[in-house]
Amino acid sequence: MIELDSITKYYGNYPAVTDISFRVEKGEILGFLGPNGAGKSTTMKIITGFVPPTEGTCSVAGNDILTNSLAARRHIGYLPETVPLYTDMTVSDYLEFMGRIRELKGEHLRKRVDSVVQICRLEEYFDTFISKLSKGFRQRVGIAQSIIHEPDVLILDEPTIGIDPIQVVETRELIKNLGGEHTLIVSTHILPEVSMICERVIIIHEGQIVAVDKPENLATRLRGTERVEIDVAGPTREIVSALEKVPGVESVNRKNSLSDKGYSSFEIEAERGLEIRSELAISIVKNKWDLLRLEAVGMSLEEIFLRLTTTEDATQDGENLGIEEVSNNE
Ligand SMILES: Nc1ncnc2c1ncn2[C@@H]1O[C@H](COP(=O)(O)OP(=O)(O)OP(=O)(O)O)[C@@H](O)[C@H]1O
Ligand SMILES: [Mg+2]
Repeated sequence: MIELDSITKYYGNYPAVTDISFRVEKGEILGFLGPNGAGKSTTMKIITGFVPPTEGTCSVAGNDILTNSLAARRHIGYLPETVPLYTDMTVSDYLEFMGRIRELKGEHLRKRVDSVVQICRLEEYFDTFISKLSKGFRQRVGIAQSIIHEPDVLILDEPTIGIDPIQVVETRELIKNLGGEHTLIVSTHILPEVSMICERVIIIHEGQIVAVDKPENLATRLRGTERVEIDVAGPTREIVSALEKVPGVESVNRKNSLSDKGYSSFEIEAERGLEIRSELAISIVKNKWDLLRLEAVGMSLEEIFLRLTTTEDATQDGENLGIEEVSNNE
């Protein structure tokens, strides 16, 4: 649905993005994650035809964004970083106006305005001047205008920025629901948001892609091992020695001393990609110890992000663990 091939963008002599390639399939929700100045908005502006790339090509629904711009843009709904709202218009006037720009008219236009107002929960503010809306509701109006023409591709640049925690939950839910019908790219700084909304994430750093994968896979790839935590009631030394014998287990560490409740917690590491949980459980049960908890633990997305974007050899880290390989396949 969206295809970027070797996109580079220079602002003057400054390379904002360098040699970026990826594809987004129909119906997919892709997250764009990166620190300030990484090149997220620039890449989105290129996809939506707002700025031309210096090199490379980009197409949306098979239409080149430069040579077949209008056809490509008909497929796209865009929520820019700064939403261009006309504050002296009411919500309904503004949405109608945006609909007209998108070539909607008459009854159909009215129906679409009603429909996006409903989807974005703006009913109460239908006749309110935009100047009187809070930041969160302005953001919703921004999302509403981006879907007015029923585009199949949606590009949302930091849709939840500046929204309070209560509204954020609703807005995320709204975005997730949009994912069903649209192909979506969402940029964000908020790491948990990526796992909540996105099926796949591109981590971008200094204008380059440093990782592409499902949020949950990024964790295991980077860590290099599988980690499992268990709580078991029984004799510590024997438990450790039994678990160490489970095939694939590399280390067993007790995390705390025996708790009041009579069990200890252990952290077990195994080779990457190995599923050891059932063997661990069998070993414990065979020994007639009580298994109280068994859980695979991932590296938090925060840890991953910091490792990819703050270490000097960020890309090298990726290469060692096969991440570079993943991004080339995209
Ligand atoms: N119009 C412009 N002229 C010159 N430099 C620009 C322009 N727009 C962006 N840049 C530079 O390009 C780089 C990438 O900017 P971009 O806005 O794409 O980052 P971003 O990942 O969206 O960051 P943020 O998280 O802060 O929104 C930055 O170093 C920025 O200063
Ligand atoms: Mg940005």
